[in-house]
Amino acid sequence: MSGGTQVDNAIRFYEAKSRDYDGTWHSNFTKQFISRLDIQKGQRILDLACGTGLLTFLEAEKVGLSGSVVGIDVTPGMLAVATRKQEQDAEKYSNVTFHNGDILHLEETMALQGKTFDVITVASALVLFPDPNAAIEHWSKYLKPGGVLAVDATHPRNLVSGMVLERVARRLDLPMPYNRSWSRSEASLHTVLESAGLEVEKVETIHNQAGYGKRYYDVERWDDFFVENVIVKDVANTFANNEIRRKAQAVYKEEWEKLAIDGKVEEVDAVFLGIARKSADGSRYVPETVSSEAIFKGGCRCGRVQFTSSQRPSDITLCHCRACQQLSGSAYLAFVQIPRFALKYIGSSTLKTMKLSEVAERTFCSSCGTPITMEYLYDADRINITMGSIDTYSMSCRIPKVKKHIFLREKAPWVESPDDSTERWGTAEFAHLVATKN
Ligand SMILES: C[S@@+](CC[C@H](N)C(=O)[O-])C[C@H]1O[C@@H](n2cnc3c(N)ncnc32)[C@H](O)[C@@H]1O
Ligand SMILES: [Zn+2]
Ligand SMILES: [Zn+2]
Repeated sequence: MSGGTQVDNAIRFYEAKSRDYDGTWHSNFTKQFISRLDIQKGQRILDLACGTGLLTFLEAEKVGLSGSVVGIDVTPGMLAVATRKQEQDAEKYSNVTFHNGDILHLEETMALQGKTFDVITVASALVLFPDPNAAIEHWSKYLKPGGVLAVDATHPRNLVSGMVLERVARRLDLPMPYNRSWSRSEASLHTVLESAGLEVEKVETIHNQAGYGKRYYDVERWDDFFVENVIVKDVANTFANNEIRRKAQAVYKEEWEKLAIDGKVEEVDAVFLGIARKSADGSRYVPETVSSEAIFKGGCRCGRVQFTSSQRPSDITLCHCRACQQLSGSAYLAFVQIPRFALKYIGSSTLKTMKLSEVAERTFCSSCGTPITMEYLYDADRINITMGSIDTYSMSCRIPKVKKHIFLREKAPWVESPDDSTERWGTAEFAHLVATKN
């Protein structure tokens, strides 16, 4: 086996980078990172994987001399740059201390014994650890009750050639010096933070992390990236043997081509930033789970809107009206109906209401756009839920079937109505009710 430990790989990689590190996009990114945090004068901050101290020094300015910042990193060269910068402005940064240590084993750093912090930051490092959950659990021990952890994770198309490499390594059962595969969306970071016992305050996407926005590579260029990643940048010597390289080359091509749309592979310069809090009494945060009486649950794409229903749903109505087309970006929206009292929101911080006509109100998640409900103002007792927002695996009843199509007069001309022997309505069977209200 190749590879060495996580620490060995990190040191090998960052030792070589330390001298020029401050000239990279990290200088700008750490500014973006801190601008999203609420840091107060006098606070105590722990900056993990602090590197050359780019974020550490920004934090030191924010907390002022009545506060303090501790930076921990394992790469001597990175810490040497940090210390040199501190010496150049010794008075201003007298509230900063740096320690060499492995942040997956903070108990080994004596200076941290018995200490807890108001804020812990981990910038551009979470994906270097094999188990994000275990890492966050470990770091959380050093948070004060009510303290805040801020950490970022990569967008799945960020440095896309590296992502492809990771897939290749996993398929060939080879070790990788990073683990990005779990970080698919804001929701993945949300889940990781929450399952480490923290209450998530927000997860947002920071675009233009490194300044290029988006870019596209011709699908034929897979070979360049293969050479760059597998041969030139093979930090952990994962692909050092020819037999492995040969296998990796074929798999690399295959994985790269899977990503291509119209002959191009997209690279997205974005990361997800999560901010999460330890509870005021220091206990683990346990997200409210579905009550045993729930018949089904559901929610939006980003996970901020979540609901349960204590009643069975009706069968499905497909609404072909123009509004449903536009809101779904597709041909129709699928709804089931439940009694209003049965719907309970577990998360609704981003739920917004909109009224597109005099007769109905709709809700949607303002963070990810998922349409959630539609209710007719003339019908106080029932509410319609979009079928797509329901987690069908959670249904303890049978999965409803399509029962009718409504507003077929407005149907998208590019859609063939399936011959499914269901009810068909040009508008809606309740049109007369709507009309009397007008
Ligand atoms: C991309 S740099 C980020 C540095 C800094 N947070 C920033 O944003 O500029 C990643 C850092 O993680 C450090 N690192 C990696 N594994 C580590 C470990 N197990 N313990 C401490 N530091 C580690 C590396 O030495 C490197 O300095
Ligand atoms: Zn959402
Ligand atoms: Zn509709």
